[in-house]
Amino acid sequence: MWLADEAATENAGRLLSKVIATGDVVALSGPLGAGKTGFARGLIEGLGFEGEVPSPSFGLVIPYAFPDVRVPVWHIDLYRLDEMAEVDELGLDDAREDNALVIEWAERMGSQLWEDALLIDLAVEGTGRRLTARVPPSWKGRWPIL
Ligand SMILES: Nc1ncnc2c1ncn2[C@@H]1O[C@H](COP(=O)(O)OP(=O)(O)O)[C@@H](O)[C@H]1O
Ligand SMILES: [Mg+2]
Repeated sequence: MWLADEAATENAGRLLSKVIATGDVVALSGPLGAGKTGFARGLIEGLGFEGEVPSPSFGLVIPYAFPDVRVPVWHIDLYRLDEMAEVDELGLDDAREDNALVIEWAERMGSQLWEDALLIDLAVEGTGRRLTARVPPSWKGRWPIL
């Protein structure tokens, strides 16, 4: 899927928010500046959150669990995982039980990334971005553009 500008990337996240449920994992990959945070922002806003959605890169995790959010979600950025924590310390298995997880730099989890995660890769192409999804069986048919 071609994303011409940041608004298109946010809108793709917003579309995904309509079909997301507790326990879902969305793994975002792509280089710095690819639009991972923009995609996550659209998704979190699409769930009903109306405040700022900053990058979680300095604290690793920002939870969004508010009455106006349809599905509580953890926004996670593992870019600085090595410096700040081990992935085991983040308690993501437990978090999945009652949250959706949206994970930037999810590839840093290595083999600990769940096989049922929806993988969304963003690549820089000229002035826009190219979204490629790897869709596990449990996600098939849930998002029309997948
Ligand atoms: N098509 C696009 N989609 C997303 N971001 C874009 C796009 N074109 C340009 N940009 C710019 O690229 C940057 C993406 O930043 P961000 O979402 O923080 O990326 P990441 O989290 O992958 O590092 C922003 O400055 C945004 O304005
Ligand atoms: Mg980011």
